[in-house]
Amino acid sequence: MNKAPMDMQGLLIEELSVEGYEKVLKVSNPEAGLTGIICIHNTVLGPALGGIRLYPYPTFEAALTDVKRLARGMTHKSAVAGMGLGGGKSVIIADSKKKTKELLAAFAEAVNLLEGVYTCAEDVGISPSDINWIAKHTPYVVGVEHEKSSGNPSPFTAWGVFRGIQATLRQIYGSDSVEGREIVVQGLGNVGGCLAELLFWHGAKLTVSDIDWDKTLKVATKLGSTACPAEDVLSISCDILAPCAMGGILNAQTIANLSCKGVAGSANNQLLNDADGDLLREKGILYAPDFVINAGGLINVAQELEVEGYHPTKGRHLVDKIYDQLIHVYELAEKNQISTSQAAISLAEYRVKYEIGKRGASPVYHHALKNG
Ligand code: NAI
Repeated sequence: MNKAPMDMQGLLIEELSVEGYEKVLKVSNPEAGLTGIICIHNTVLGPALGGIRLYPYPTFEAALTDVKRLARGMTHKSAVAGMGLGGGKSVIIADSKKKTKELLAAFAEAVNLLEGVYTCAEDVGISPSDINWIAKHTPYVVGVEHEKSSGNPSPFTAWGVFRGIQATLRQIYGSDSVEGREIVVQGLGNVGGCLAELLFWHGAKLTVSDIDWDKTLKVATKLGSTACPAEDVLSISCDILAPCAMGGILNAQTIANLSCKGVAGSANNQLLNDADGDLLREKGILYAPDFVINAGGLINVAQELEVEGYHPTKGRHLVDKIYDQLIHVYELAEKNQISTSQAAISLAEYRVKYEIGKRGASPVYHHALKNG
């Protein structure tokens, strides 16, 4: 592939020793304004894939804590979804207003040095056009715009959450129909907005809520649903609460006020602490572990790496399996009398330990072949 010219001299790589992680690199290029971390948690099942988060972390330690948590989460997500991929993530410590082409190119060169052990993708603070630019400097990236690209991941994430809600309803009521079920969607962005539409068309009794009240009213009017102020959404009595906004919303304080039968949404890191999974279990609330139910976007984009290239029908078919994966997690939790989040983590760790779902063929970077 053709790489745009890049002065490599300024790139500094420092390997940090972090227990439980395969490789953690501090990458910097003072000239390009780059300070970042590439964190590879585990590559037993395949090369690591995970997004780049660009965020103005207050300290390097805060960035390291975040990237470690995110990379481990990717190992779990890929293992349960059976993607033949490992877990990794990267962060760039910067204000999005100071994001420059030089900074992104310098970061891409650092990714390049890992020779495919880590493949990067979009995350908070990184746009599709940033990904296209990064792809000019490294082939190890997915989500690049080209004729066989997987495109926007959110509709696939939303479809996976919809199937996860069905599985959760089946576990609670013995029927997976959403028709007439009271479902609350918190956060009406890319995923939540799409999920609300799917639920509408399948006959759910919807309540919608976003911190942006205009957006809440707009969606509520369009879908004939109830609009709920952001501050009240967690205590509404309903069948399913679908958190599709931010993480950490399930904690000792909020769980005490929950009045739902199940929690099944897309938000990452919904539990503030691992112990919050036990609190939900004690309260009799069935929780769909976030990294299982929200894997649709990853499952879809990962198809870009297959020899045969991306195809939306295959993406949809694989995302559909989230239903069965969740049922399996629920059965494990019941059998072992543990929380569903603990069951999902144990399942992921078991699959890594016994190399279940390990990648056979090497990933193919079709966009790089095309440009080469
Ligand atoms: P988004 O940024 O498009 O939408 C988030 C929405 O939540 C916005 O409308 C925002 O106004 C709203 N919001 C923020 N704080 C809120 C609050 N306190 N109460 C109610 N609403 C609030 O994000 P997107 O892409 O829809 O993602 C939603 C969640 O799902 C995030 O946690 C994300 O990490 C996670 N996720 C998304 C995936 C994707 O494919 N987009 C894949 C996997 C996870």
